[in-house]
Amino acid sequence: MAHNGRMSELPLLPAQGAPEPGAAAHPTRVAVVGTGAVGSTFAFSLLLSGLAAEIVLVDANARKAEGEAMDLMHAVPFARTTRIWAGTVADCAGAAITVISAGAGQKPGETRIDLVKKNAAIFREIVPAVAGANPDGIILVATNPVDVLAYLTYRISGLPAARVIGSGTILDTARFRALLAEHYGVDPRSVHAYIAGEHGDTEVPVWSSANIAGMPLADFATANGMGHDQARLQEIFEATRDAAYHIIERKGATYYAVAAGLLRIVEAILRDQSTVLSVSSLICDYYGIDDVYLSVPTVLGRGGVERTLRLGLSAEEASGMRRSGELLRSTIATLDLDRV
Ligand SMILES: NC(=O)c1ccc[n+]([C@@H]2O[C@H](COP(=O)([O-])OP(=O)(O)OC[C@H]3O[C@@H](n4cnc5c(N)ncnc54)[C@H](O)[C@@H]3O)[C@@H](O)[C@H]2O)c1
Repeated sequence: MAHNGRMSELPLLPAQGAPEPGAAAHPTRVAVVGTGAVGSTFAFSLLLSGLAAEIVLVDANARKAEGEAMDLMHAVPFARTTRIWAGTVADCAGAAITVISAGAGQKPGETRIDLVKKNAAIFREIVPAVAGANPDGIILVATNPVDVLAYLTYRISGLPAARVIGSGTILDTARFRALLAEHYGVDPRSVHAYIAGEHGDTEVPVWSSANIAGMPLADFATANGMGHDQARLQEIFEATRDAAYHIIERKGATYYAVAAGLLRIVEAILRDQSTVLSVSSLICDYYGIDDVYLSVPTVLGRGGVERTLRLGLSAEEASGMRRSGELLRSTIATLDLDRV
């Protein structure tokens, strides 16, 4: 076969996996808009999980989405039977969840907030089209700055806030737990500690409720003959907060851990698990923070956000959260949303 780039000559068209137009009620569909490093890694983990019966991939670069769909489709014999195809935003119709991971990522040295102008412009294109095609679904935003873009999505989609979620600090919380686990010599799944606030430079480690098996960290350290090393804990937080910078310096992007976090959110929703995860959602009247998306431990189920949990924060943590809220509010103000 000549490789002249024409899809019609390829033996296996991704579109062959697409359901018939007008087909009756379809099985669980997850759409991924933006099939770059994050979107395609998430789609791969979703395929292996077997959670979705249908995965549709959408990208401004249609050939990229087609290539990813073909590659993923060829993994189906090793996974659960799943229909995968490259589609358009119209294929988000009926999706239980649309994950949006379209847009630019951080370049070395760039903050997440620096990305706001270019990615907000992309969202103003994508979000009304997704919500128009799928007014009953959930939108899960991964693109950075994730809190600002999740808020923008909420405002311009017309969807209720419960059905617009940002991945928020699910990734930072995972990084924090992984690094604390290494320090204390236990399984990260046995460490209960949250990063709250912005997914970014103002994020807040919630030390006041961090524990292992219900034991505050200082008690756990004493009981295990370790001594409580506050300076080391501060380094662990800084390594958590700055992880993206360190990874991007080395490999140009981050995608495995965020993809795993997105999968965990999707699982909590599709299986109606009422799982508590640190994700970004609409926060009102929370330690003086109002009308902004940021992360706190949040109960997620089939309808999206079931409720956000009011943590008993220390004064320092509460003021850190307010700093996050103010930064996000002032970034949102640059978007001129009241003119939308
Ligand atoms: N939330 C998190 O924890 C987290 C973690 C890592 C990365 N990210 C963010 O995820 C985003 C994507 O990162 P990446 O590494 O996958 O980037 P990437 O450059 O590999 O992929 C971005 C994709 O978006 C597509 N795209 C651009 N405009 C589009 C449009 N209008 N419609 C559809 N597709 C469009 C591009 O063609 C590209 O394929 C970035 O903003 C990055 O900062 C978030």
